[in-house]
Amino acid sequence: MTEKILSIADARKTFVSKSKRTVALNGVSFEVKAGERVALLGASGSGKSTLIRAISGLEILDSKSGAITVCGSQIQANGKINPDMRKIRSSIGVIFQQFNLVNQLDVITNVLIGIGAQKNIFELVLKKFTLEEKALAMDVLENVGMADFAYQRASTLSGGQQQRVAVARALIKGSKILLADEPVASLDPESSRKVMDLIVSVSDQYGLTLITSLHQIHIARRCCDRTIALNKGALVFDGPTNQLDKNALAKLYGSNLGDLQMEDELSSSNNSPERPQLVLVH
Ligand SMILES: Nc1ncnc2c1ncn2[C@@H]1O[C@H](COP(=O)(O)OP(=O)(O)OP(=O)(O)O)[C@@H](O)[C@H]1O
Ligand SMILES: [Mg+2]
Repeated sequence: MTEKILSIADARKTFVSKSKRTVALNGVSFEVKAGERVALLGASGSGKSTLIRAISGLEILDSKSGAITVCGSQIQANGKINPDMRKIRSSIGVIFQQFNLVNQLDVITNVLIGIGAQKNIFELVLKKFTLEEKALAMDVLENVGMADFAYQRASTLSGGQQQRVAVARALIKGSKILLADEPVASLDPESSRKVMDLIVSVSDQYGLTLITSLHQIHIARRCCDRTIALNKGALVFDGPTNQLDKNALAKLYGSNLGDLQMEDELSSSNNSPERPQLVLVH
């Protein structure tokens, strides 16, 4: 039986400010098995980033709300983050739309920062890395096609190259799960395709489970067998990505369909009658 790697039970998150309350997550529950690749879809503001941040322990869910467990370690429950989060975080790689590299540092140091949880702050500041760690960093850079740029400043790289380095930084941690929040939203179509292909191939190579929010249905179709869709913080679809034809997406996104990027090849073949009908969870 395939190992369960992520479990989310009744995740709720309400943001409260002076003038308003926003329910960003409204009782989301699902499980993911090791090795799955899951696309997270939903209109802008539906809660995708909040969910990814909650899984990575960067967002605390409402008290009296659900639990999130990754690789058997509880990330949070009842509004409390596991105090050992720093250690647990090494099993979770996260990449973001804006790459989050340190621009002034060279590529190899940006990658080595990924092993930060195993270092104290002085070792990090003084860039005290062993030869083995540097060799490991070169290996992962090789795997993402960036070894030739190891000693170049991050600020001098293209967007696609920066995202490759961000992937390398997630890999060097020895992560079991890779969370990607719109990893290709800032890239042109060609770079998007290359970076997503890289993410899929390293996920296979390193045996990673991938959960990625996306606004491009054609990428979800190509890279992720399973899709979870959110609408106003609620889980409204959880099933095979190939069940999401045009009609299903129109239903899912409603008046926000413009948030979703489609390619023309989202063709009538996907609307053929023999395709399974979408069953909305709510
Ligand atoms: N720190 C915050 N304070 C207040 N409201 C927030 C905060 N973070 C998110 N929200 C609100 O929570 C809701 C969900 O936001 P979230 O960023 O998770 O959406 P999203 O699905 O990632 O959207 P997008 O596709 O635009 O990235 C939105 O209404 C957003 O305005
Ligand atoms: Mg977002």
